[in-house]
Amino acid sequence: MTKLHDDKVRLLLVDDEEGFRMAIARRLEKRGFVPVQASTGEECLEILGRDPVDVVVLDVKMPGISGIDTLKIIKQEYVKTQVILLTGNVAVSDGIEGIKLGAFDYLTKPIEIDHLANKIKQAFEMIRLEEEKQKELEYREKLEKKMIDTERLASIGTMSTGIAHEINNPLAIINESAGFMKYILSTPEMLKCPRRDALMMGIEKIENSIKRASKITQQLLTHVKKPELQFSEVNLKALLYETFGLLKREIKDKQININWEIDPKKNMIWSDPYQLRQVLMNLLNNAIHALSENGSITLSTRETNEDIILEIKDNGIGIPKENLGKIFDPFFTTKSFDEGTGLGLFVVHKIISNLNSKIDVTSTVGEGTSFYIKLPKTNELNR
Ligand SMILES: Nc1ncnc2c1ncn2[C@@H]1O[C@H](COP(=O)(O)OP(=O)(O)O)[C@@H](O)[C@H]1O
Ligand SMILES: [Mg+2]
Repeated sequence: MTKLHDDKVRLLLVDDEEGFRMAIARRLEKRGFVPVQASTGEECLEILGRDPVDVVVLDVKMPGISGIDTLKIIKQEYVKTQVILLTGNVAVSDGIEGIKLGAFDYLTKPIEIDHLANKIKQAFEMIRLEEEKQKELEYREKLEKKMIDTERLASIGTMSTGIAHEINNPLAIINESAGFMKYILSTPEMLKCPRRDALMMGIEKIENSIKRASKITQQLLTHVKKPELQFSEVNLKALLYETFGLLKREIKDKQININWEIDPKKNMIWSDPYQLRQVLMNLLNNAIHALSENGSITLSTRETNEDIILEIKDNGIGIPKENLGKIFDPFFTTKSFDEGTGLGLFVVHKIISNLNSKIDVTSTVGEGTSFYIKLPKTNELNR
């Protein structure tokens, strides 16, 4: 991709009349441009093949490959390069044909040098605008890629909530019974019971497992049910800082670097701050878990007219391709029994869709993971 320097236009001036070309180049130099020169279409293409050029000022009438043919090739091979044609004053039709073929504009000889300088600036500005448009498009495509099968997840959600509910009752009974057995084992008459310690240990294992199972059913029941959303004006930047405050210890323990790349605009959205904080907590917890010591997390926001796009990026272990489609599923986890339930991202996804937002992820094993969240700035339905 051609990277634009803000102030320096990479300019190529192509004309077979050396005297004319030199004169124009000198006068453009006085206006701050540094044009590279070529005397034929062939030479022009050769230079383009070597180095990227932003704007080509191209004479139409040249021996060898003509200006128009050169233009055709440029537009085919160097899509971002803008071309300004120079035509003789009797050959206006060349100029018009050139525009049809994608030239930025044409000027007729004799050239007014300030006019040419202005055109070059405009063409350069055009490249910048197109680049911006392209970036925006890429962002949007990334976000809209249908990696997450929303409907399937929704139905799994409903089902898991039902199951969680059903499991809670027997779980309570098991818990009570375990407690009762423990009580019996600790009465004086049982003190001499053979293998009492082993029985006690068994009961404790049961109790620990009940705790884990309850954690899971609770997570399912509290977050999967459609919560009462409480919309208000939210300063996303402040919310991010606040959430980081809650994770200070984990961040310090692992000596994680945090990079802030927050859009200087207002960062205000209309949303539910509690739900959003839950999302951030879950994503940041995962990022922290994926990092080794001295890893980093980069937080960036980008504000467009309608949305704020938040990116949470870590340079941790990454997610293998075959897992990318599953991470939002309930109970999908690669973590050990004590570390993960596999419900964090499921809850995140649920909340994100309740907030009319979108989430997407890209990841490379060994390099890291980025979660993108697109949050609408206003939400008329919920006002
Ligand atoms: N930032 C991340 N880097 C690497 N893997 C991740 C990241 N976030 C999520 N994952 C993967 O997605 C799985 C599911 O995440 P989650 O739903 O939060 O459940 P849990 O954290 O309990 O495992 C994780 O076990 C992990 O394999
Ligand atoms: Mg998690």
